[in-house]
Amino acid sequence: MTALAVPFVISSPRLPLLINPGAASDATALSQWLVDNPGWAGEQLRSNGALLFRGFDVRGVDDVEIVARAIEPTLQNEYLGSSPRLPLSKSGYVFSASELPDFYPLPAHNEMSFTANPPKRLFFSCTIPPARFGETPLVDFRAVYRDLDPALRERWAQRGLRIIRNYSGPDETKKDFFELKKWTEMFSTRDRAVVERICAREGFQAVWKDNDRLALISTHQPVRPHPETGEPVWFNHIHNFHLDAGHLEYFQVLKHRPTLRHLRYWLLARALSAWRRRTVKAEDQSMHATFADGSEIPTSDVDQVIKAIWKNIVITPWQKGDIVVIDNAAVGHGRLPFQGPREVVVAWA
Ligand SMILES: [Fe+2]
Repeated sequence: MTALAVPFVISSPRLPLLINPGAASDATALSQWLVDNPGWAGEQLRSNGALLFRGFDVRGVDDVEIVARAIEPTLQNEYLGSSPRLPLSKSGYVFSASELPDFYPLPAHNEMSFTANPPKRLFFSCTIPPARFGETPLVDFRAVYRDLDPALRERWAQRGLRIIRNYSGPDETKKDFFELKKWTEMFSTRDRAVVERICAREGFQAVWKDNDRLALISTHQPVRPHPETGEPVWFNHIHNFHLDAGHLEYFQVLKHRPTLRHLRYWLLARALSAWRRRTVKAEDQSMHATFADGSEIPTSDVDQVIKAIWKNIVITPWQKGDIVVIDNAAVGHGRLPFQGPREVVVAWA
């Protein structure tokens, strides 16, 4: 272990704030410095939204956890989001960020924005840098709010939003490309009473269907004031769950990186969405979002939101041992499609 003086901060014009060690330093030295300077990370997050610790000798998930706990001593490990995740640390608090296939893009989002108490902080770290692409883009959702047409903001606020998710039963085989997990994977139990208790706490309406299937329905507002500053933040998951979100996101990926592979997946995503819309009712879709009264949100609205997100996107290639700390109340994260091995891990508080 090498003693750490004051971290050397390179001020960035846009997020994330890049922090390099002044001299060779490992995760233990970094976490000790953070413990000795309580409030420093919180202050930086308030003004910058996200921090990137780069160049520290971070060797795996246990190192990620000690740095995370130096900033937020109490981590959480209940995950109600869409991505399949695997626990990677013995403690059970560091997970793979997403086990979704490499071609699958994740539009930037505020983690678990649809839950009663979304995480305050996220800690991502790269243990295996992707061979090609696969960045975790960051987006300031205060800027997304400001960039959106006020008429759209008003319309969504007036009409309210509804998220619909359908999950297979534990003994069914998943057949739907859009279904990411079974409800037993989501809630880590087969006990319906436990599921119903969690749903009541989170404000999800749980509807049991044939073959032990489960639908979750929840209503939301599009904007949440930042809990510390009161600034309006575009804080919802419609651009992840809406049936057209996947191909609209892929179109932006394709524009950013015009490859044959991205073209193929964009065309495939567009065709699949059109087919699903024709053949499956809104309430039976694996994932979809409507206005609160059940009427359809125009695809052009979702497209506007995704364009505002891409206007504010910051894409930084991963380096091994990077740790990114995010103020989840302000800044969203996503995942760009990739090729080759890649491991990005996550903890949250
Ligand atoms: Fe996420």
